[in-house]
Amino acid sequence: MLKEGKEYIVDIVDIGHKGEAIGKYEGFTVFVDGGLVKDKVKVKITKSKKNYAQGQILEFIEKSPYRVKSPCEESVYCGGCQVLHLDYKKQLEIKTNMVKETLKRIGKLENIKVYDALGMDSPYRYRNKAQFPIGYKNNEVVMGFYKKMTHEIIPSDKCLIQHEINDKIMNIVKEYIKKFNISIYDEKNHKGILRHLVTKVGFKTKEVMVILVANSDKLPHSDKLIDLLKENIEGFKTLVLNINKDKTNVILGKENKVLYGDGKIQDYIGNLKFNISPLSFFQVNPAQTEVLYNKALEYANLTGNENVFDIYCGIGTISLFLAQKAKRVYAVEIVDQAIEDAKINAKLNNIDNVEFFVGKAEDVVPSLYKEGKVADVVVVDPPRKGCDEKVLNTIVNMNPKRIVYVSCNPSTLARDLAYLDMNGYKTLKVQPVDMFPHTMHIESVALIEKN
Ligand SMILES: C[S@@+](CC[C@H](N)C(=O)[O-])C[C@H]1O[C@@H](n2cnc3c(N)ncnc32)[C@H](O)[C@@H]1O
Repeated sequence: MLKEGKEYIVDIVDIGHKGEAIGKYEGFTVFVDGGLVKDKVKVKITKSKKNYAQGQILEFIEKSPYRVKSPCEESVYCGGCQVLHLDYKKQLEIKTNMVKETLKRIGKLENIKVYDALGMDSPYRYRNKAQFPIGYKNNEVVMGFYKKMTHEIIPSDKCLIQHEINDKIMNIVKEYIKKFNISIYDEKNHKGILRHLVTKVGFKTKEVMVILVANSDKLPHSDKLIDLLKENIEGFKTLVLNINKDKTNVILGKENKVLYGDGKIQDYIGNLKFNISPLSFFQVNPAQTEVLYNKALEYANLTGNENVFDIYCGIGTISLFLAQKAKRVYAVEIVDQAIEDAKINAKLNNIDNVEFFVGKAEDVVPSLYKEGKVADVVVVDPPRKGCDEKVLNTIVNMNPKRIVYVSCNPSTLARDLAYLDMNGYKTLKVQPVDMFPHTMHIESVALIEKN
């Protein structure tokens, strides 16, 4: 065990999935904030446990060759990006290895071809959705990101992973708050109105949705804010008040009031057009989403004769991609509003061979199977916790020739692939796709076939 307060020389050997640098001192694990693979650092131990310690960097003995000058001054503290100071090619290499290692460690799966992660040519300003907490710092209204592991706001006037239009929107909302003296929510005493600014931007249509999350069902002087947004924000389509009166860390409440426009924007992925509403899930990196969906479609290898299940379908994005090449698609999703959007999206694109079902996949998929609906090909794209075992079990019983698994969490992907492996399926290949440059998140598409 290392001693708290004492100094040690530590070699950084890896980066964890939250961006934490993993160092070794005589084989003992030391987590070091701000370290990078191949750094040699002198650290002071701030926390010491039986199996690991945490250290704070006092001095760099050798700097990692992969360290680059971060283009954002705040990135050391900010919880938005974790590895802006790590060379982008190295980020992709580390993420690819993370997928490989996780498949081996958690899934005990060997001999799966894992391709190099597909990255972006220009990995900046890629996000179409921003969520900025609103608060005060030194008596000034600020918006930005929470400092790592805290609720202290790091002001960000220019966030390099968000669309440029956000820089302007933040200034306008600040101007409105100051001019009309709008109160800001204080989580300690649960008083004040404004909690978060959330924006959604259509990258191809340039349409902009502004959502203000408030501890109130009224937004004072909203007409003035609408005027400011109309005057200054090209593509401004809609302003929504999201009501969140709960004492919670969850950003969005369940109720929305549309204050301007129709509460929706539209954007394209590939040749398909989608309605995007305040609460439904839409992939945050549109350029890479196209790469991801094309890969999923390639792995699905449809000829036009197949019945396909798209499980965890969101607003029907993958479903509609698949429908263009399949006989029929059955798509399942838990969020009501997302399914409403999905149905509208099918109409918008003149696609009529998809049936959407709302409910928990673990209930809906088994009951569709009981009714006699089976799939030749199944696509799943679950949330981070992966597929419910009932879903996997029903898929196995349906006996599809092929399963395409889209995953945002390598650990649950590994667990679920291992389940399929034990039940007559084999994972042939996995393609990681970098949807989240400068963070340690990675998306993957896996192709699984009947043994
Ligand atoms: C990673 S997203 C994928 C959405 C969509 N495929 C896409 O690419 O935009 C996961 C989706 O699963 C939905 N979801 C979460 N739990 C679910 C459940 N138990 N049953 C059905 N859908 C669920 C979420 O609402 C979300 O839309």
